[in-house]
Amino acid sequence: MEPCVVIGSAHRALGEQVAREVGVAPARCTIARFPDGEIHVELGEHVAGRDVFVVQPTIAPVGETLLELLLVADAARRAGAARVIALVSYFGYARADRRTRAGQPLAARVAAALFERTLFDRVVAIDLHSAPIEGFFSIPLEHLDAVPRLASVLEEVLPERAVIVSPDLGASKRADALAARWRLPVAIVHKTRVSGSDVIAREVTGDVSGRRPVIVDDMISTGGTLVTATEALLAHGALDRPVIAATHALCVGDSIAKLAAIGVERLVATDSVPPPSAPFDVRVVSVAPLLADAVRHIASSRDAALPRS
Ligand code: R5P
Repeated sequence: MEPCVVIGSAHRALGEQVAREVGVAPARCTIARFPDGEIHVELGEHVAGRDVFVVQPTIAPVGETLLELLLVADAARRAGAARVIALVSYFGYARADRRTRAGQPLAARVAAALFERTLFDRVVAIDLHSAPIEGFFSIPLEHLDAVPRLASVLEEVLPERAVIVSPDLGASKRADALAARWRLPVAIVHKTRVSGSDVIAREVTGDVSGRRPVIVDDMISTGGTLVTATEALLAHGALDRPVIAATHALCVGDSIAKLAAIGVERLVATDSVPPPSAPFDVRVVSVAPLLADAVRHIASSRDAALPRS
């Protein structure tokens, strides 16, 4: 039976593109609000016996987009879907994959635990903040890698005398791999996070002098990491007008203005979340083909039909 693609309200454009790539019409589904703020979901599609794929990055407001996804899954389950699969192009709370102080929750695990077997059969996610998050899910997870897609676009716009930079230790593997691919030097900014929006750079490893930074990260939220990294690189003799690249360009608040103010020349990002508009060049590479491949693979794979407890 033809798979069914339901599009949540967080990122309709991505869902529509996934449906197009799969070759199906998006499923009819009403998502609205009751006057008291509760979420109203109503599937208007015949899903009995079909695999239902729900496209929803859990972006801000994270609690709302997450709950909406769970409600759509419950609606599909109750309407007799054969399997329900979450296509979470961006997984909110992923950065809370460890506790930094006593008294904090392990929020990534709590969010992952909501993807229960009673609601979902499988989750598809893209570039989770760290590999250990995979272990927080109790149902099968496909962890897709968007870096090759980002790299193919970055390759077209690499500046002369580039140095690939990781703005913190967490992104160093990504930077190493890209630097090796292009035989370019690599540098790492050693960052310490002070608060949700403030970070400080302790040192820079690698020679950046006279080179144009290409700073790669998994996500941009407030832009604080990239601003601090750029300032540290400039202080170490790097050339200005950095190119920045990230899978998830959340770009909250005034982040784009901050990035423009430090002279960012270009942003390369995916559309895992709605891409920002900016006064500098923004190149967007779509993750829809990746997600559509996952849909086709799961829909045609009998092995993926794991028994539900
Ligand atoms: C942190 O470990 C992440 O990889 C990003 O560097 C960070 O989350 C970006 O956040 P912001 O843009 O707010 O500094």
